[in-house]
Amino acid sequence: MSHQVPDHDDRTSVAAKPTDEASQGSTTMTGSPAGSDRNSLTIGTDGPILLHDRHLVEQMAHFNRERVPERNVHAKGAGAFGTFRTTEDVSAYTKAALFQPGVETEMLARFSTVAGEHGSPDTWRDPRGFALKFYTTEGNYSLVGNNTPVFFVRDPMKFQHFIRSQKRRGGSGLRDNHMQWDFWGLNPESAHQVTYLMGDRGIPRSWRHMNGYGSHTFSWINAAGEMHWVKYHFHTDQGVQGLTGEEADRIAGHDADFHRRDLYESIAEGDFPSWTLSVQLMPYEDAKTYRINPFDLTKVWPHEDYPLVKVGTMTLDRNPENFFAEIEQAAFEPSAVVPGIGFSPDKMLLGRVFSYSDTQRYRIGPNYHQLPVNRPKNVEAHNTYTFDGPMAYDHRGDEPVYAPNSEGRGYSDETGPVEDGWETDGPMLREAYTLRPDDDDFSQAGTLVRDVWDDAQRERFVETVAGHLLGGVQGDVLERAFDYWKRVDTDCGKKIEELTRAGRGGDNPGGEDGQAKGLASDPLVEERTH
Ligand code: HEM
Repeated sequence: MSHQVPDHDDRTSVAAKPTDEASQGSTTMTGSPAGSDRNSLTIGTDGPILLHDRHLVEQMAHFNRERVPERNVHAKGAGAFGTFRTTEDVSAYTKAALFQPGVETEMLARFSTVAGEHGSPDTWRDPRGFALKFYTTEGNYSLVGNNTPVFFVRDPMKFQHFIRSQKRRGGSGLRDNHMQWDFWGLNPESAHQVTYLMGDRGIPRSWRHMNGYGSHTFSWINAAGEMHWVKYHFHTDQGVQGLTGEEADRIAGHDADFHRRDLYESIAEGDFPSWTLSVQLMPYEDAKTYRINPFDLTKVWPHEDYPLVKVGTMTLDRNPENFFAEIEQAAFEPSAVVPGIGFSPDKMLLGRVFSYSDTQRYRIGPNYHQLPVNRPKNVEAHNTYTFDGPMAYDHRGDEPVYAPNSEGRGYSDETGPVEDGWETDGPMLREAYTLRPDDDDFSQAGTLVRDVWDDAQRERFVETVAGHLLGGVQGDVLERAFDYWKRVDTDCGKKIEELTRAGRGGDNPGGEDGQAKGLASDPLVEERTH
């Protein structure tokens, strides 16, 4: 029996000829010549392929495993590298190396939406993530904030429920405004954040045109061991700009990656975005008597009480070379603090200190911190007693695997009070914070509507809320929503009710109801829905 073995068969592809560098050919994963990237091994030209074509098998098998799970929240995003420069002297408040005068620290930023999945449009109305990782000389520091200074809930027990209400229904797999408002209405502490979300800052023009906030209260500790409570504000040097609901909907239809593209192209063109960091500082003792509970994440500290103190500038000037390696696998973890920066009694923050590293051990793998984007770049990690596991790469040979040991490998051994701690005592109970004189769920939201916004902003806000409510919110949930807005601001609340009952409203973010978006006359929408 004779058979013909064809020369390399070019009929199936008209790809360009390999460059000189590539003409060396590819290899298998174990480094031996790969045979062919274009023709699988077959018996005769028309015969079956062979299982022992290990290169083909390797290609298919690896492809099947080349995704990691998307982030359960903030799945859609992108980021860039840059530098943080401390331009002012804040050493009286923190001894952290990165915040000492003149210090420059390499960093990574990732921006994102919250509820949408990996391919979802960048311009849906949603808070934006503002996650930072600083590669400091004292270890990596993560500050994982949003573009708003407050959040929807104040107890980490509620976070999971909140997110589920913003994502998709179990049955239809659809997002559902009714479900969103059911959660918000039954959790009135959400009013401040929802007011932000429905206002002009609810959809940024680009990530370059939004502020970032640490949102929580953190602690700063100086060289003398004195502690201040601190809130971070990154103000965009590009100016805050937003999109109207209508603009955002239109953009979502033709460029789901609008914000990702904007950041990438700006940096590629040498137009580097920057933000100025300022902080609010509260002396440690003030927190005991301040009229607002300073650890409640649904509240801001009025600037007249605690003015902004400038710290430095963050500039982003380098795009990732590889999106998966440097952005998808990046792990931002609120637990990653450095000496001079600590946590606070903010219960949400304390919950997050557990949650992120935990999800990253699952999402990326238990040795996620060994990946180049996550490992400390400016200090050597001595995590000698945490080792092995899938894909373990770092190891310390035959060094002792236990502490204490008498073989000379160091170990940490602090005792007594910790310098980043605070006083705490009391019975065990279930309650998020004792109310202070000015603590209530609606007044700061009302101040935003009445004292910060102008008439035009209030008008757009009323239309946006009415449009959202028209996206399928019904019955008691709708009545509760009217009441919620009247408690934020009586006048706006009444207008929202009037507009909604009249069936008129603005954009319907993330909703599925064409009527509410004013799209019912769009032929494409009609084709789909009739
Ligand atoms: C991402 C949990 C509250 C901002 C995530 C992720 C989880 C999570 C599991 C995915 C992380 C990953 O896969 O790498 C929680 C919990 C919270 C909470 C349990 C409350 C108890 C907040 C708050 C903010 C925030 C209050 C902002 C002030 C972010 C950001 C990301 C994120 C920006 C994306 C980080 C990145 O770009 O990789 N959150 N979150 N989260 N969260 Fe939260």
